[in-house]
Amino acid sequence: MSKAIINANRSKGIINKNIYGQFSEHLGRCIYNGIYVDENAGIPHENGMRTDVVRALKDLRIPVLRWPGGCFADTYHWQDGIGPREGRKKIVNTFWGGVTEDNSFGTHEFLELCRQLGCEPYISGNVGSGTVQEFSDWVEYCNMGGQSPMADLRRANGREEPWHVKYWGIGNETWGCGGNMRPAFYADLCRQYATYLRAYDGAHPLCRIASGANADDYLWTKELMEIAGGFVDAVSFHYYTVPDSWEHKGSALNFSREAYFAALRRALRMDELVENHSRIIRQYQGERKVGLVVDEWGTWFDVEPGTNPGFLYQQNTMRDALVAAVSLNIFNNHCDTVVMANIAQLVNVLQAMILTEGGKMLLTPTYHVFEMYKNHQDARQLESYVETSLTGVTGENRVPNLHISASQSSDGTVLITAANLDDEQGAALDCALAGLGRIGSITGRLLSGPAGAHNTFDKPEAVRPAALEHIQTTADGFKAALPPCCVAAFEVRPA
Ligand code: AHR
Repeated sequence: MSKAIINANRSKGIINKNIYGQFSEHLGRCIYNGIYVDENAGIPHENGMRTDVVRALKDLRIPVLRWPGGCFADTYHWQDGIGPREGRKKIVNTFWGGVTEDNSFGTHEFLELCRQLGCEPYISGNVGSGTVQEFSDWVEYCNMGGQSPMADLRRANGREEPWHVKYWGIGNETWGCGGNMRPAFYADLCRQYATYLRAYDGAHPLCRIASGANADDYLWTKELMEIAGGFVDAVSFHYYTVPDSWEHKGSALNFSREAYFAALRRALRMDELVENHSRIIRQYQGERKVGLVVDEWGTWFDVEPGTNPGFLYQQNTMRDALVAAVSLNIFNNHCDTVVMANIAQLVNVLQAMILTEGGKMLLTPTYHVFEMYKNHQDARQLESYVETSLTGVTGENRVPNLHISASQSSDGTVLITAANLDDEQGAALDCALAGLGRIGSITGRLLSGPAGAHNTFDKPEAVRPAALEHIQTTADGFKAALPPCCVAAFEVRPA
């Protein structure tokens, strides 16, 4: 029996809903085909956005969507993607597959997608190959309400009202694909860009997000904070879960038990990364509070055999579901510093929510985790603790078998999300809730299956949540049996 304790008397604060953010890049079939379709493709759409995909994504209550990259962002010149579609410049997507980018999906289309999804846009601007003027014009184009050259251009393109885009990323991976800069150089550039990204209206302040470190490059965060910390609202970092090495990422579907535990061990590293980057931010921030944004995270495996290596299309299994579950638990439990996270990516790329094939689509196990966790958004994080034992094949990749987080919504409902990482042994959970008063009802949902279980276009519902049966109420909480390799969500309602 593993004892878990949820303590409603202790909290790190509100879980920023933006932790449940997403990322969509002009990469492979994410935007084109995955989200945005040609009028003649015979796929139902509204203003070009697939109705099936948008409908499914709306159920996730996506709070914020990052765009247009990724590496693509630092090659993107936004003025290529506005105005009559026939006249838009055709360019080469040099980072991703060398394919033609016809710019048919640009600023207006992205903001229309956000409108349909009901989410906030997060635009990543071009620092690597753009200019301060170009970036500042983009903000003016989106946000200026009165008369100005860019506001007039926007109106000429059919949009009267400003969109009030709040979140702006100052470059992407500027240590790598975004310009191969050194930290001090980027930090100075970041100050310069931040200066010219204007809030055009006092009621709509901007959130300026600095391009941050690669994984555990703490020196990057330190130098960035020292030089530019006073000019930005948040600093990002990127971390991908790769089981072995970048050279040997391994298959998304056919993997050994060792690779299963290796991926989970690497995913759990997020805890230490968030802790350490947060500590540096706290140390160097002045009066102005600077948040931590993990604007790219998730699994990265070999592409599916026979697919374009530059398109990063991979399948998604229960292993991915567990990576999502532990990562979201970690972000929830660091809600005092993590203000946003964006899993990579929304559709058809890396650890996607949705895969499509022509007019067909399927929901991945990762999608279901986001759906089961969605009530953590804007809820009050609660301190939680669970007894664990180590599980794994070899010493190097042993991981704790259980992983949890908890929160309380404004109506008093407590959501406890728990993952059993052991792929062979079930776990008996004995969960006590402190500081909550009398419990009314408890329900549970469960996503489970063998580590390699996944959905296909022939069997799109092989992995999906089901009711978790036989929850037993106890004097101070409940008991439940967790099968091997599962993600569970318990909702405890007050009497
Ligand atoms: O998400 C895929 C790529 O990974 C992004 O374009 C880049 O920022 C990162 O290296």
